[in-house]
Amino acid sequence: MSRVEQKVREHFHADARRFDAIYDERKGPLTRLIDNWWRGVVRKRLEVNLEKLAPLAGKTILDVGCGSGRFCIAYAQGGAARVVGVDFAAAMIDIARQIAQEAGVADRCEFIAGAFPEAVGDEQFDASTANGFFDYIEQPAPLIARMRELTRATMIMSFPKAVEWRVPVRRLRFWVKGTPLFLYRAAQVKQILADAGVHNYEWINLDRDYLIVAHL
Ligand SMILES: C[S@@+](CC[C@H](N)C(=O)[O-])C[C@H]1O[C@@H](n2cnc3c(N)ncnc32)[C@H](O)[C@@H]1O
Repeated sequence: MSRVEQKVREHFHADARRFDAIYDERKGPLTRLIDNWWRGVVRKRLEVNLEKLAPLAGKTILDVGCGSGRFCIAYAQGGAARVVGVDFAAAMIDIARQIAQEAGVADRCEFIAGAFPEAVGDEQFDASTANGFFDYIEQPAPLIARMRELTRATMIMSFPKAVEWRVPVRRLRFWVKGTPLFLYRAAQVKQILADAGVHNYEWINLDRDYLIVAHL
């Protein structure tokens, strides 16, 4: 595992509970306001993923960098037949398994604690998603190419914008913690997708992200 991967894994292992709290509706008005401003994109991404993957019934889906499993669980609740989430932060996977159990969808969700792509085999999926993942990836193209090989129909991927009003503060926060962060200009995303062999896609400007919905 590279130095960047080690730092990212340590960060999310330690930060898992705080990260998952973004999805928790039970919080005070001030925390809710701040979360909406800074991290509202996290929940907006989930809404767009659900909309673009509809109908979910019977589908198989791979979620790369699944974190606390909120997307996987929503896919299963929407009727997906099988969902596989992979994340190398063990604390994230622990939360995902617990929430899937509580939501009654654990039988259709598999959570793998390991690095993508090494920890995932050759199983093919109808769709694959990677949200808030490429923010932490030094070389996205080979990973996207591997996602493409494992996907039959649809891939959804977010890339954080390099030019955006929240960027200076976000960069500072990550710099202070020593956690790597990768941000993208539109031209870079287009080049990465071309390098990965992804050519047919919708381009969505979603808050602080570019959201790509690729049709294979
Ligand atoms: C910001 S979280 C996003 C979680 C989830 N997709 C969501 O939107 O709620 C990014 C996750 O990617 C994981 N991650 C980063 N690089 C990874 C890799 N190469 N293999 C597996 N997981 C990785 C981190 O551990 C972290 O939990």
